[in-house]
This record gives sequence, C-alpha cells and structure tokens, in this order.
Amino acid sequence: MIMSYLAVPISASNPDKAAEQIKAALAAGAEILELRTDYLENLSGQMVRELVAAARAAGSKAVPLIVTCRDKNQGGSIGYPLKLRLDVLVAALKAGAEFIDFELDNFLRIENQERILVALSQSRRGRLILSAHNFSGKFDDILGLHRRILSICPSAIPKLVYTADHINDCFGALDLLNRTGGERIALCMGEAGVITRILAKKFGGFVTFASLAEQCATAPGQLTISELKDLYRYDAINAETELFGVIAEPVAHSLSPAIHNAGFASLGMNRLYLPLLVQAGSAGFDSFMRNIIRRRWLNFRGLSVTIPHKHNALAFARSAGAKIEPLAEKIGAVNTLVLSAQGGIRAYNTDYAAALDAITSAMGIARSDLKDLNVAVIGAGGVSRAIVAGLNDFGARIKIYNRTVEKAQKLAEDFGCEYAGLDELDKLDARLIVNCTSVGMYPNVDESPLLEGCLDGEMTVFDTVYNPAETLLLKQAKKARARVIDGVTMFVNQAIAQFRLFTGQEADAELARKTVMNCLS
Ligand code: ATR
Repeated sequence: MIMSYLAVPISASNPDKAAEQIKAALAAGAEILELRTDYLENLSGQMVRELVAAARAAGSKAVPLIVTCRDKNQGGSIGYPLKLRLDVLVAALKAGAEFIDFELDNFLRIENQERILVALSQSRRGRLILSAHNFSGKFDDILGLHRRILSICPSAIPKLVYTADHINDCFGALDLLNRTGGERIALCMGEAGVITRILAKKFGGFVTFASLAEQCATAPGQLTISELKDLYRYDAINAETELFGVIAEPVAHSLSPAIHNAGFASLGMNRLYLPLLVQAGSAGFDSFMRNIIRRRWLNFRGLSVTIPHKHNALAFARSAGAKIEPLAEKIGAVNTLVLSAQGGIRAYNTDYAAALDAITSAMGIARSDLKDLNVAVIGAGGVSRAIVAGLNDFGARIKIYNRTVEKAQKLAEDFGCEYAGLDELDKLDARLIVNCTSVGMYPNVDESPLLEGCLDGEMTVFDTVYNPAETLLLKQAKKARARVIDGVTMFVNQAIAQFRLFTGQEADAELARKTVMNCLS
C-alpha cells in the first residue's frame, strides 16, 4: 500500500517565524513539512541548512522534509534567480532533506538537470519531486505528462497541479491517481478543486497539502490542517472510505459536512462527506452526476442537493430512471440522492418530512391531526412548495402569502390553497404560521415578515430561517407567548432523514443540533 502524507507548507519570511510555524505544524499533526524557501527574505544556502537543522530538532518525532524554492513563474513568492534556487536545493540535500521539489520545465535544461542529479547521487536519502503547475486551467494530457516525467527521471515523484474552474475538472487528477501506481501527486487548485485535496489519501496520492491557517495558504483552495483533520476526517480516510457530499453553490458555508461527518465519526463509520461545489446550470450538474456514476471506484453512495440544483436533481433522476419518492415529484424538487454499489439511484425530498416532524412534535400532535388545521405559509419559493406539499398531503387548510402575488397564486393553484399578498398578513387567522422567506436571515436580523401585533398565544410560529437560530419573528412570537419552532430544528431534521437514507441508521439528534449551533456561533 502506498503511503500518503499530510504536508504542511512553512511559508515564513524569516527563520525565526519559520521555526514558530514548524512547531505549530508539528503540534497540529503535520506528517511532512514543506519548507517553502522562496518565502524567506535574504535567502542563502546557509539559511536553508540552518532551517533544515532547526526542523529536525523541533518536535519529538522526526518528520520528512520537502525543500522547495518555487520559480515565480510557477507560483513562487519572491523571485529568486535560478542559480540561487539550485544552490538552495543542493544545500538542502547536503543538510539531509528527504525531498527537494524542482520544476519540470527548469529540469529540462541540461545544466540544471546535471546539477540536481549530481547532488541527488551524493545524498544518502534525497529524492526529487518533479513538479508541473498550470494556474490557468487543466493540462491537455495529464496522463501523458505523468509518463513524460517518469521517462525523463524514473526515480522522481511526479507532481501535477492545476487549476480546476469547475468540479468536473477534478476528474483528470482523480483518474490519474486511479490509473497509475507508485508515488505521485495530483491536485487541483481553486475552490472547485478542494475535493482532490481531501481525497488524495483515499486514492494514494503521495501528499496533500494543508495550511496552518487560512492566511498561510501557499496555493488557492488549500484547506487548513484543522479543516482537513477535524471537519473532513483526514485520519479516518482510507481506500475503502465511502463518499457522500452536498452539491451546492455556494457550498463553503454549508453546515451539512459538519453534521454528517460528525454523525459518521460518532458511529465509527468509514464514510466521508464532502463539499461539492457545482456551479448553477443543469449541464454541469448532469455531467458531474455522470462523472461520479461512471467511476464506481470513487465509491459515492449519497448526495445532498441544495440551492441551486434541487430541480436539476429531479430532472436528472427522471432521465436516469431513478426510483423517485412520489411527493418529491409533486414538490418538483429532490434534495437527496442515494446511489447503490450496483449503480441504482433513489431520489427523495427530506425537506417536507423534516418540516412536518418539526411541526407535529412542537405542537404535540400526530400527522393526521394536521387535517383542517388553519396554516399561513409566508413565501412561495422552493421551501414553501415543499412545506405546502407536505401539509396539503395531510389535509391542512393553507393560505399562502407572498410579496409577488402571482407566485402565491400559482403555488396555491397547484395544491388547491388560498393565497394573498403580504399586505393581508395583518388580518392573519391561523393556528400555525410558517415563514419560508429569507426575511430575517443574517445579516438582515432586524427584519421580520410580520408586524408585532399579529401574533397571539394560541399560535405556533415556525421560521425556516436558521441563521440566526432565533430570528426577530421568533422573538416576537415568544413575546406573544406563541409556541415557536426554529429553522435549526428543520435543518437538523432533514439532515437526520438524509443520514437515515444514506446509512440505514439513526443519527444522534442532540449531537447534530450541537454541531449546527457550534458552526453558527
Ligand atoms: P427558497 O428555495 O429558499 O424558498 P426562493 O425560491 O428564492 O428560495 O424563494 C424565496 C422566497 O422569499 C420568495 O417567496 C420571495 O418572494 P418573491 O416571490 O416575491 O421573490 C421571498 N422573499 C425574499 N426576499 C424577500 C423580502 N425582502 N421580502 C419579502 N419576501 C421576500
């Protein structure tokens, strides 16, 4: 089995700061240190020898060192001349560094090649990482490039790093890892490339890089070591790990990875939940789905789908002949896709059930008691549609209020409800009020869809907004002594329902809520 290392770049401007970063990186669990000497001011061979010695002396356990002095043309920080950069790499080998990283383009020049090869032959354990970078997009032929590097220097570790403009660009790097053996590094830069950094270990990439802190990142899209370890379960990942994830744009602040990964960890499951940035548009969504389904070896087993792809997910499920939950069809949106090892797909919507469970448990009633309950639903978007479908299925009497009255009318007609504009909210006459608009959501925390006097103690008020957990609407409701249901409850419920579909097991609801509240604070 090929070893994968978690490498932390040391990118300090002077040796003292570098020593501090080295200490912090080792304490955080770095398995390799990459000394990015191109960040050091007044760089010299002597400085690098001392730095290598300092890295050796730091920490209780010796970790291997990669010494890099990156060419400015390939992402280097300070533009040092080639001669000095070669001196630095030779000095690093003499000082006992395990790896030096040199750019393929520069290695092709025979005088550079000779200098490096002589230094390597004189070093006891030094190895060469030959790297190629493309900051503007994919390599034309990444497999060919990998072969070429090995034909030029068979003992080198090829390192191929390029920018992913779309998540679908990541499959070149992942295919390379899947199709080749030996030590090799294939990673994608940019937010769309994040999954290659998390999955390098699963597919035997020689290293993945994580920064000490966001401001120390040495390449775009690099995660911090704590994100990789604490959020994305780095230590638990292996070749058998099953994959899950949330498809969204934006995805960076999604709470789903935290909730699901905490659930997997607490039950000791060999599963990992990824953030999957898929830009808006059905073509990109469809090709992402085809990409992961075609590659069974990726081991994707389940997906959460959210804005802006819930309609695309339904359309895809239909075209792929998936088994679709009937109410998801009626809602017109799918937020959960379950993929079997044999290639079968099942599609669900867990939003409506999450809302119904939140409502019935807060009101202390059964779903059948929703019959003839007077409900006001504020908003006529995707969330409203799921909740209206669910409540309608159990016979509630629903009136939909929306800023754009035509949208309220359309939704009301689809489900046989009443409708009105927001101006009629002051004549509210309902037992249950559900806010499905984004009014009151961070940062507009001083807004509420209702005027203060509209609420009374006989009502239950449910706000689907979960950031903040206690919106102004819920504060008003509490003041009026109404029962309240917050958006965190619904969010947690839909995640727990997904977890059940993904794993067949119950997630710990308390842990899930705590995880969400931690992320929100
Ligand atoms: P979601 O999928 O979260 O439901 P959506 O489909 O974009 O998102 O729907 C957003 C809902 O919030 C709509 O009902 C929208 O009203 P319009 O249909 O008139 O656009 C409502 N909404 C958003 N911002 C609002 C605001 N400032 N005041 C009132 N309603 C608002």
